[in-house]
Amino acid sequence: MEIRINDVGFSYASVPVLSGISLDIKGPGFVSILGPNGVGKSTLIHCINKILQPKSGSVLIDGKDVRDISIKELAKDVGYVPYSANDTFPLTVVDTVMMGRHPHSKWNTLDRDLDIVYDTLRMLGISHLAMRQFNELSAGQHQKVMLARGLVQEPQILLLDEPTSNLDIRHQLDVTKMLKRLSEERGILIVMISHDINIAAKFADQVILMFQGRIYDVGAPAEVITEDNLRSVYGVESKVIDDDGRPHVILKDALPMSESCNPSAVMAHIRAQRASQDAADSDGKSVRRGVERILGRT
Ligand SMILES: Nc1ncnc2c1ncn2[C@@H]1O[C@H](COP(=O)(O)OP(=O)(O)OP(=O)(O)O)[C@@H](O)[C@H]1O
Ligand SMILES: [Mg+2]
Repeated sequence: MEIRINDVGFSYASVPVLSGISLDIKGPGFVSILGPNGVGKSTLIHCINKILQPKSGSVLIDGKDVRDISIKELAKDVGYVPYSANDTFPLTVVDTVMMGRHPHSKWNTLDRDLDIVYDTLRMLGISHLAMRQFNELSAGQHQKVMLARGLVQEPQILLLDEPTSNLDIRHQLDVTKMLKRLSEERGILIVMISHDINIAAKFADQVILMFQGRIYDVGAPAEVITEDNLRSVYGVESKVIDDDGRPHVILKDALPMSESCNPSAVMAHIRAQRASQDAADSDGKSVRRGVERILGRT
C-alpha cells in the first residue's frame, strides 16, 4: 500500500496552510510525522483521508485518486484516529469500538465483529473497561478506546493523530511498540503524528519532519532527527546521541523565537534538500526518492 501526495496545497479560507507537498509513503511500515504546533500535520492527514479537500494537487492511495473513492470504500482501507474525539456519546466502550467495524458491517457478521473488538481491547489492555461508558473514562483510557476503534477497522493504512499524547510513559511505550509490531505482523502502513521525538526515533521506520506547511526533511530517524534540524525547526538546542543505532534527543535549551523562526534559513535548507535529493535520484540511490520535488518553489 502506498500514499502518494502530489504537489498538495491547502488553505483554510484564504490562509495558506500547506504548500507544495509531494511525498511518497510506502507501506508496510511505521512512519512518524513530526513538527512544531501549527505546521499543518493534522491538516495533511485530513487531506489524505478526505476530511479536507486539497485546494491544489492530488492524493492517491494505491494509485487511485481519493476524489474517486467513496468515504465508505476509503474507510475499508484507510483508518483514522483523530487527536481527540468530540463525539463523547453515552455509549459503552464495546459499542464505541464496534463502530469501527462499520465499513465491514453485514447483518450476519456480529460474532466475528465482537471477537475482533474483544481481541483488540485485550491487546490494548482495556478489556476491563468493555462495559464502562465511553464518556466517563480518563483521557488516557479514552485515547486507547479511540485507538481500538481505529484498529478494529482492520485497514491497510492507519492514520493516527497523536494517539499516545495522554498516555503515561509506560503505556506510550507499550502502545507504540504494539503499533510497530502490528505494522510488521499485519503488513500495514501506520502513519502516526507525534510530538514525542524520542519515541518516534526509537520505533519509526521513517520520519517526516514538517515545518511551515512544507516537508522539511524525510528519511530514517538518524537522518532526520539531528541537532541541526531540531534547531531550525523547533528552535531548540539539543544533544542527539546514538542509542543502539537510533538517535536519542537530550534537550538543552530553547532558542529565542527570532532565531528559531528564520524563514530565509528555512527556505535555504529546503532548496539544499531538493538539490541533494535530485543528486541522489540521479545516482539511483534515492533514499528520499519521490519526496518533495517541489520544495524549493517560493
Ligand atoms: N478549521 C480551521 N480553520 C482555520 N484554520 C485552521 C483550522 N484548523 C487548523 N487551522 C490552522 O491551520 C494551521 C495548521 O493546523 P494543524 O492543525 O494542521 O497543525 P498541526 O501541525 O497539526 O499542529 P499541532 O501540533 O498543534 O496539532 C494552524 O495555523 C491552525 O491554526
Ligand atoms: Mg495536529
